[in-house]
Amino acid sequence: MRTVLVLNGPNLARLGSREPDVYGTATLAELRDLCSATAAELGLTIDFRQTDDESQLISWVHEASDGRVPVVLNPAAFTHYSYALRDALAMRTAPLVEVHISNPAAREEFRHTSVVAAVADGTIAGFGLGSYLLALRAIAGLVAGDG
Ligand code: DQA
Repeated sequence: MRTVLVLNGPNLARLGSREPDVYGTATLAELRDLCSATAAELGLTIDFRQTDDESQLISWVHEASDGRVPVVLNPAAFTHYSYALRDALAMRTAPLVEVHISNPAAREEFRHTSVVAAVADGTIAGFGLGSYLLALRAIAGLVAGDG
């Protein structure tokens, strides 16, 4: 069964208590369980991780590149300024879908720029936790052709 790395950037471990009007009340553990269930329906397994640390996130992206592992990534605030993360993602060897719980395009101006979008297969934003589930479906479609 193909494994998908689901990577979460800074402050996402605070889901549940973090700005619930923007991000909802579900916790990161609940998000992980939803992703697991959807992945199982799609014939995939997930390796779900979160870090507040840019260096750690980049190491995980390198690991995915080396292992040809597809990635669903919520880069959180790194989305808007981390050229280092973007450069790491540019080395990817398997599908990559960028996700956001909120719709950054409808929020503050600094969130309107994603420095990673151009190196992803696509971006899914604004559907709450559903963004991740749609991203897993997109990944399933993308990997279907390459075994
Ligand atoms: C986010 C949107 C980002 O602008 C923000 O910095 C986050 C979460 C989202 O999932 O909506 O931390 O990526």
